Amino acid sequence: MTFSISLTVNGVRRDVELDNPRVTLLDLLRERLQLTGTKKGCDRGQCGACTVLVDGRRINSCLALALSHDGADIRTIEGVAEGGHLHPVQEAFIAHDALQCGFCTPGQIMSAIGLIQEGQTDGDPERVREGMSGNLCRCSAYAGITEAVLDAQKKLAEAGGTDAGRRDAA
Ligand code: FES
Ligand code: FES
Repeated sequence: MTFSISLTVNGVRRDVELDNPRVTLLDLLRERLQLTGTKKGCDRGQCGACTVLVDGRRINSCLALALSHDGADIRTIEGVAEGGHLHPVQEAFIAHDALQCGFCTPGQIMSAIGLIQEGQTDGDPERVREGMSGNLCRCSAYAGITEAVLDAQKKLAEAGGTDAGRRDAA
């Protein structure tokens, strides 16, 4: 038995046949759609490396069944830069040296975009740290990550909004 689902991934509709109802959204993205920017760290909801936005909200895609997201709008790290320009959060991660090996970075960036859109941190480093606490970094680049999120949040706010998912907010 197969299951047909349709997703919008980074603005493009994707129709997928699943032969197993237990396929996770992470495996669908990486293995079926070849979007390998989303990383598999723990595969059990503990590290945040697999973070993507689903209908604007950040989730751990390793814990999400693809089948239960039929019709969803998915944004992955491959879909945040536009027109040859990095997303403001990506630029901030570079400017603040917020990565070392880079394995956790796609998840950190997607989580940061989601956190900024949630609009709850108020420019407070402690709230940023708490809001990003589901994303682990084995290289311990946490100081730079917090600075990058605060910087991107400030720049996006100055540009007129907290809709960090939109490149044109930069
Ligand atoms: S791979 Fe999903 S939380 Fe670690
Ligand atoms: S930069 Fe290496 S795990 Fe975060």
